[in-house]
Amino acid sequence: MKPPFQIAVFVSGSGTNLQALLDRFSLSSTAGPRVSRVVASRPGIGAIARAEQAGVPWSVLPAGVDSDSLAEAMLNELELAGADLLVLAGFLKLIPEPVVRAHRGRILNIHPALLPAFGGPGMYGRRVHEAVLQSGARISGATVHIVDEQYDHGPIVAQWPVPVLEHDDPETLAARVLEVEHRLLPEVVDAFAAGDLTTDPAGRPKWNRTLFRDERFVLVPSKS
Ligand code: GAR
Repeated sequence: MKPPFQIAVFVSGSGTNLQALLDRFSLSSTAGPRVSRVVASRPGIGAIARAEQAGVPWSVLPAGVDSDSLAEAMLNELELAGADLLVLAGFLKLIPEPVVRAHRGRILNIHPALLPAFGGPGMYGRRVHEAVLQSGARISGATVHIVDEQYDHGPIVAQWPVPVLEHDDPETLAARVLEVEHRLLPEVVDAFAAGDLTTDPAGRPKWNRTLFRDERFVLVPSKS
């Protein structure tokens, strides 16, 4: 029997995107994809409690180490996870080059805005939504992209827009974006695990599955 597709998830915060993945890809799945390890950038975060609750092995990356040691620790975690895919679900550290090199095309990040706008160093969490509101943009959303050596930079795989409403503040906008993040991320991971989302030799994503039924962003139900 083919071994299950193993997903490692790196986290830094409350872990609601992790939860969406845990709900869809549980460890008890013997054949289907499953979250096999959760790796946190710091102790005591909500995401760790979610991993614990789901019975998924977790660990915390070492703090205050140089980039080479961090890369080594990450590679070690990915090995322990048997990771076929690494998902950054609210992970705020830059992925060091050796990790990108070793897992190129197999690392996905979710970002709470429509890249390439409102991304890059320092653009995470609340700050992203503040910047969107300050800019006057009327649309925001979620982006999933392939991770390269720069923050929020690699090829875009999928997006889901939401409106910016008249009386939004960073919290109301963040909540609207998070709702679509939780729906988009598991779909993209499912497609990747099924081989319906691949990359060509230039690293560009190729979809063999229809994500949205039509222009109203109704998801086409996946088979799993
Ligand atoms: C999510 O909105 C995610 O897109 C964002 O952090 C939040 C984590 O929430 N990531 C970034 O800003 C990365 N640039 P969560 O811990 O509840 O999933």
